[in-house]
Amino acid sequence: MSDPPVYPGSTGINQALAALADGRLVAIPTETVYGLAADAASPDAVARIYAAKGRPAFNPLITHVADAAMAAAEGRLDERARALAKAFWPGPLTLVVPARERGKSCELARAGLETIGLRVPGHPLTRELLERFGGPLAAPSANPSGRLSPTTAADVAQAFGDEVALVVDGGPCEAGIESAIVSVLPEDPPRLLRPGAIGRSALEAVIGELAGRGSADINAPGQLSSHYAPAAALRLNATASRPGEVLLGFGPAAPPGPNLSPSGDTTEAAANLYRMLRKLDEQGAGTIAVMPVPDEGLGEAINDRLRRAAAPRESAVS
Ligand code: TXA
Ligand code: MG
Repeated sequence: MSDPPVYPGSTGINQALAALADGRLVAIPTETVYGLAADAASPDAVARIYAAKGRPAFNPLITHVADAAMAAAEGRLDERARALAKAFWPGPLTLVVPARERGKSCELARAGLETIGLRVPGHPLTRELLERFGGPLAAPSANPSGRLSPTTAADVAQAFGDEVALVVDGGPCEAGIESAIVSVLPEDPPRLLRPGAIGRSALEAVIGELAGRGSADINAPGQLSSHYAPAAALRLNATASRPGEVLLGFGPAAPPGPNLSPSGDTTEAAANLYRMLRKLDEQGAGTIAVMPVPDEGLGEAINDRLRRAAAPRESAVS
C-alpha cells in the first residue's frame, strides 16, 4: 500500500475534481486541520470515508459548502445561525442546524440525523475547489479515527494508502485545531458542542451566552472519551517532567525545550498543539507531560483536546 500522491495548488485542485467525480476520497487543506473529503451527495463515496478512517458510523461528518447560499440549500439557518454565519464564514465555525429534506448531502454524511453540520472553510484552495465542484463535500479531519488530526499534507499522506486518491497541499494549517461547533436548533438555546478555533467569547459577542452540550446531544467528539490521541501517554497539568517523560511547556516560565507558546499565547499554542504532539511521538516519547494552559481564548479548545488525548484508551470507541 503506497502513500497517496501530494499535489500543490491548481494541479491539486484539477486532480481533486476528477477524483471526486469518480467517487474517490481526496484530502484537502483547511485553515483548521486537513480534511478527508468525498462528494457529500454520494452515499458510496461517503461510506469510503468511514471505512478509510475506521470511524464509527454513528458519528456524523461535517458538510463543507462554498458559501452561505449553498449552506441554506442543505440546512435551515434561522436568524441566530445566520448572524453567526455572517460573522465567521468563511472560517472555523461549524453550525449544526436542521437538515433540509431536499439537500444534496446524503443521510449517511449526517449519520442518519435530522440535523446537519455545515461549514464554509476559509482556505483559498478549498474554497476554489468547492466553488468549482459546485456541491457540498463531506469531510472529517483526515486522521485515522481517534488519532491526532493532521496539520500538514505529509501528515495525511503518511497515515493513508491508496484508499485516498491524492492530497491537495495547501501548506501547514493556520489555526491547527478544529472548528468550533455550535448547534442552533429550534426552541433550543445555541450550544457550544465542541470548543474550537474561535474562542467562546468571540462567539458569545455575536450570539450571547452559549449553553453547554445537552444530555440529548449526539456524538460530537466530546462523547468519545479517548480521542485526538498520540501514541505516547499524556500527563496533564505538569509543572516539571518526571523520569522517562518529556515536558511540553507553555508560557515564559517553562524550562527550555518544546513549548506550545513561549509568550503564553493560546492562539499560537493551538497552532502548535498537534504538530508538537506528533513530533514528540515520532521521537519516541513514552509519556508527554504537558504544562497547564489557561482556559482563555483558544485555551478551552486546547484543554478539551488534551483531556481527550489523556483519557484511558480502552474506553475509546474506535
Ligand atoms: O475543523 C474542522 O471542523 C475539521 C475540518 C476538516 O473542517 N473537521 C472536523 O471533522 O473536525 P470531524 O469529523 O473530525 O469532527 C466533526 C465533528 C464530529 O465528531 C461530529 O460528532 C460533529 O462534528 N458533528 C457533525 N455533524 C453533527 C451533527 N449533525 N450534530 C452534532 N454533531 C455533529
Ligand atoms: Mg476529527
